[in-house]
Amino acid sequence: MKYHITTYGCQMNLHESEKIAGILNACGYDEECGEEEADIIVFNTCCIRENAENHAFGNIGALKKLKKRKPSLLIAMGGCMAQEAGKAEYIKRKFPFVDIVFGTHNLCELQALIEKKRATKKTVVSLKEEREMVEDGITPVRKSYPNAWVNITYGCNNFCTYCIVPYVRGREKSRAPEEILKEVEELVQAGYKEITLLGQNVNSYSGNGMRFPELLDKVASIGGNFRVAFMTSHPKDFSEELVAVMKKHSKICRRLHLPAQSGSDRILSLMNRRYTREKYLNEIALLRREIPDCEVTTDLIVGFPTETEEEFGETLTLVREAGFSSAFTFVYSPRAGTKAAEMEGQIPEDVSKLRIMRLVECVNRQTREKSARCVGQTLEILVEDYDGKKGFYLGRDSYGRMGYFKSDRDRVGEFVTLKITKANGVSLFGEEQ
Ligand code: SAH
Ligand code: SF4
Ligand code: F3S
Repeated sequence: MKYHITTYGCQMNLHESEKIAGILNACGYDEECGEEEADIIVFNTCCIRENAENHAFGNIGALKKLKKRKPSLLIAMGGCMAQEAGKAEYIKRKFPFVDIVFGTHNLCELQALIEKKRATKKTVVSLKEEREMVEDGITPVRKSYPNAWVNITYGCNNFCTYCIVPYVRGREKSRAPEEILKEVEELVQAGYKEITLLGQNVNSYSGNGMRFPELLDKVASIGGNFRVAFMTSHPKDFSEELVAVMKKHSKICRRLHLPAQSGSDRILSLMNRRYTREKYLNEIALLRREIPDCEVTTDLIVGFPTETEEEFGETLTLVREAGFSSAFTFVYSPRAGTKAAEMEGQIPEDVSKLRIMRLVECVNRQTREKSARCVGQTLEILVEDYDGKKGFYLGRDSYGRMGYFKSDRDRVGEFVTLKITKANGVSLFGEEQ
């Protein structure tokens, strides 16, 4: 039987879809295909911003016809939106042809839910308040070779006032270090070349008393030709020890994703981020003192309630001062149940739109400048994919720079050294050395 999975949201969800594929395989759905041919379609949803939700609802609505034509088709919906308060009821009401709704804490039940659904006509809904076991015991079908994602924590305790993640992913739980190290060792032996440690806030990892820097040190000490990346780091928990471990191991990528969110202290405080602009910049200064060429990327939000023009300007100046090589930029989206959604002074959409345009322009200018400086330099990339349309192989180097080159044989999974001849936005084109 055939399956199709549609994934929205972050790396956490991409990896969870690999686990969903593992479960579907165990249920007899062993061939991936397009929606039209599928016997089961799973939506793995996100609710971080309103447009992520609208997108998913639009795509689910479109399946009504398909289900009519093919009544044996199963449609399941999981992920963060399914876990959101009141959403399962809404889905049952609005999209009665959805067969299964499952939350973020009970992925390992999916097989049982599929079996249950086969025996009933009703929508099967299963949601749990919290994840009961840290280990889910699911073997993922990995689709991201040569990279492999490895969860180190689940959930989040930070309650940034704009963010819904703590409500839909539950309290932070760390996996035991032995489990993580065993998984990484197996992946390296199986030929994976990049291991990305995943958590909403990897810096607050605490597995059987072991903190993140020590865990990272142990992961990077595993023998073999591979790189280690991690995300996401929260600036409030960033430490000298982490920088020291990064410096010690050349295997650890020379890039740090450190979401700043805003450049204004008043907005950071309203966001409950628990650091100031000065602390943030000091962390970057420390990082650059120890590892001068380390690249820093970030997440930025514009239009948080009460943000003034001047405070937005502080986010613009932060881009320069921090020297971000790139940034994910977002318009603030009120999420029901979060503190910020209740705040006075919500910013009108047209104001936020203008701000995001200016921010994107500012970030892009800086990215282009950095890219242009790479022309003439050499880059060691890990080849990730082949772009059939453009006819180029592509991959990233340890700093996160994207390199493209031509080759007449399959190179995915190889480390390749490129001499950069041309820069186009974030894309660097080169010749193999
Ligand atoms: N755990 C990570 C990020 C998770 S969400 C961290 O703390 O860094 C990814 C990004 O989405 C956040 O960094 C933030 O910039 C953005 N985001 C979260 N909630 C949002 C909202 N309500 N509106 C707009 N952007 C939001
Ligand atoms: Fe959301 Fe903040 Fe947790 Fe990140 S740290 S997931 S932004 S609450
Ligand atoms: Fe990720 Fe979206 Fe959930 S960003 S944690 S999939 S709300």
